[in-house]
Amino acid sequence: MAEDAKLKIDGADYEFPLITGTEKEIAIDIGSLRGVTKGVTTLDPGFKNTASCESAITFLDGEEGILRYRGYAIEDLADKASFLEVVYLLIFGELPTVDELDKFHSDIKDESHVDEDVKKILGGFPKSAHPMGVLSSLTSALTAFNPTAVNVDSEEDMYNAIIKLLGKFPVLVAWTMRTKMSQPLDYGSNNLGYVENLHKMMFSRPNKDYNVDPQVIEALDKLLILHADHEQNCSTSTVRMVGSSQAGLFASISAGISALWGPLHGGANQAVIDMLEAIKTDGGDTKKYMAKAKDKEDPFRLMGFGHRVYKNFDPRAKIIKKAADDVLELMGVEDEVLDIAKGLEKEALEDSYFVDRKLYPNVDFYSGIIYRALGIPVEMFTVMFAMGRVPGWIAQWREMRQRKEPIGRPRQVYIGETHREFKEIKER
Ligand code: CMC
Repeated sequence: MAEDAKLKIDGADYEFPLITGTEKEIAIDIGSLRGVTKGVTTLDPGFKNTASCESAITFLDGEEGILRYRGYAIEDLADKASFLEVVYLLIFGELPTVDELDKFHSDIKDESHVDEDVKKILGGFPKSAHPMGVLSSLTSALTAFNPTAVNVDSEEDMYNAIIKLLGKFPVLVAWTMRTKMSQPLDYGSNNLGYVENLHKMMFSRPNKDYNVDPQVIEALDKLLILHADHEQNCSTSTVRMVGSSQAGLFASISAGISALWGPLHGGANQAVIDMLEAIKTDGGDTKKYMAKAKDKEDPFRLMGFGHRVYKNFDPRAKIIKKAADDVLELMGVEDEVLDIAKGLEKEALEDSYFVDRKLYPNVDFYSGIIYRALGIPVEMFTVMFAMGRVPGWIAQWREMRQRKEPIGRPRQVYIGETHREFKEIKER
């Protein structure tokens, strides 16, 4: 057992207990800090050193490149489990038995329809609307069609809310894409697997039988698994923060979608393809863009590189790089941007700027190449990330509510004007 942490402020000594996680991570419990010091707080912009909660869902070790959901290695889950098994695992803590998975899927299928009036909301968006804005709005709108508040003390109520969201979310994802592409909406089929049904709702044509190569579904399944959770990142923290005010599940997830949208977070997958396309159009000169990324006067960053937590490699990127090769071969696609991506990666891994700062390709560097090969429009990439992340957001929201965590309400260090006398407008 480690000793308490000692702090000296203005000659006074304070002690704070240490908390050790199951993976031996040590945290200083500063819960009593303001009280015992009469008002001293901690300042940690970007929460780089702050654990916002205790959680039993996802473990990642950025130095070692380890990612585990509920103790299971991401490599094993991506290789051996289905997305729906991972959804169950993340939310309920254990891998499902055959019967549990069947019941779970059957319950989800019973909820896999949305109110027809959702179409009116969809129709109200201009064609130029970004799919992430549309998805976030539609998810929030689900609250209006399911207005009963979830009693979080009732396991059954909680389960029903979760099932509703898992049933309806793929419909919203698919309809967001089809509306953008001016295609008729598809209601899916309860005879299909969860991911295959999503794929059907996205890609079926009214005048064609729906057929898909199982390897395409496998690739999509894998991508969704790799995105399913990533502990306290920006969007997940947002979901927990919004949910901590006891706002409902749909509202909390809608907020998470908005947080994911940004190019420094989930929006990076679209930004990567935009960047690779721009490099291609500009003649494919990767050295020029490497120089721009290193130039502190230039705002350009190598999108898909770097991570707040991974400082060795992102284990998801390793799996995705291999999957990108497989999918391109399967689809018979030759994609010049994949060559540019590989070239950039090679240069960056040998460049001291990137090596010294421990900047490695992250999950978004190769995912867009796969999405594109699967026929998913670039603007939908971050929506696909959201589709994968939904179980993680739900699991984190459920954990936060079940642990009865207090409302999230950080402090600040005020650096504005001190008290000033008010001046009448004519005297200013
Ligand atoms: N290209 C060039 N320089 C970079 C990059 C990059 N992609 N990322 C970080 N740096 C530099 C940065 O300029 C800084 O340099 P210096 O120490 O000289 O000031 C140093 O590396 C540390 O960067 P930071 O911004 O302080 O690191 P952070 O932990 O705050 O940011 C990040 C992490 C992911 C936001 C950042 O690496 C980034 O902007 N990457 C590009 C966007 C991206 O790919 N995002 C997807 C993240 S993975 C998917 C997800 O979970 O959302």
